[in-house]
Amino acid sequence: MLTRRPGLLTRLALSPRFHALAERLPFLRSHARAEGRALFSILSGFVQSQSLLALVELRLLHRLAEGPADAATLAQTAQMPLARLGVLMQAGAALRLVRHRAGLWHLAPRGAAFLAVPGLEAMVRHHPVLYRDLADPAAFFRGETVPELAGFWPYVFGELAQTDANLAARYSALMSDSQGLVAADTLRLVDLSDRKRLMDVGGGTGAFLRAVAARYPSLDLSLFDLPAVVAKADPAIPRLTVHPGSFRDTALPNGADAISLVRVLYDHPDTVVRHLMQSAHAALPPGGRLIVSEPMSGGDRPCPETDVYFAVYTMAMHTGRTRSAREISDIMQENGFAPRPMRRPMRPFVTSVVESVRA
Ligand SMILES: C[S@@+](CC[C@H](N)C(=O)[O-])C[C@H]1O[C@@H](n2cnc3c(N)ncnc32)[C@H](O)[C@@H]1O
Repeated sequence: MLTRRPGLLTRLALSPRFHALAERLPFLRSHARAEGRALFSILSGFVQSQSLLALVELRLLHRLAEGPADAATLAQTAQMPLARLGVLMQAGAALRLVRHRAGLWHLAPRGAAFLAVPGLEAMVRHHPVLYRDLADPAAFFRGETVPELAGFWPYVFGELAQTDANLAARYSALMSDSQGLVAADTLRLVDLSDRKRLMDVGGGTGAFLRAVAARYPSLDLSLFDLPAVVAKADPAIPRLTVHPGSFRDTALPNGADAISLVRVLYDHPDTVVRHLMQSAHAALPPGGRLIVSEPMSGGDRPCPETDVYFAVYTMAMHTGRTRSAREISDIMQENGFAPRPMRRPMRPFVTSVVESVRA
């Protein structure tokens, strides 16, 4: 079998002699140091995340949102020895979440943004589950473990969400908290001004449709989701028709000339995604629009946020996967949709959008 050698830069990076040389040559030194910092950030990333989680769980960021405080006050808030608090706050300062000025600790703009952006805190509080799932990463990637996350989102299987209304409500609240940014970015990438009715499939309690209603005051709206979920649909959304059902075994209703799937496909295996596209095709008229919005893999150009975080997260969930825009376009095409040119997402870690037209 022909074995190809690694590329030149990779071969150089494998050589300790090259690293010693790079330190001596100014034009190589800055590149080598930047690479070193990037590498160190990768290998220490889990400590950064756990320090953030400690700052959140101990409510230190929340306390500083009320005003600056000295270390003794914060140590009391967190119920920890002063010296240990010092280490945690110093880590927070290095991450630019807090800062120390004139003997007091202050919330930094980054820490304030963390508290202000809806959904971020809930996401971090929920991370211990994923963290436990990744405790033995080799076994996790080999598929030898049963991830806790797989049990955490039983709604994906449909049955539990239909019988346990509390579970559905808790989950929907988490989703709708984080929907603001997703809706904003989706609506920047999509133009619905020539549409008459949009049906949001898997639309939860209607957070995306609320944002759509505000942007398009004459567009009619439909919401399709599991019965236990739409039971809590926001009654204040104007021009809304609600359709309870499971897209696994119920046909999607006709009447809309656009269908959106926001953060839905990545929860499901390819068989369900294909079935869903066929149902969307049957429900839409010719010229109808299908809009998929969710974090997507970078495909040929791996994306640091989505190909690490979302791809691993969806793998731990055991039901779906993080697909690239190309993969989603291909499934659309196989099912009678013509993909439209894709627009570059503002924040791939929030969402990307693929649109297509029903033939
Ligand atoms: C990740 S959430 C996204 C919710 C919303 N689109 C958003 O972005 O906030 C996935 C949604 O798909 C819904 N869902 C899952 N399985 C479903 C099924 N078989 N039929 C209808 N909806 C389903 C869930 O109830 C949930 O509301």
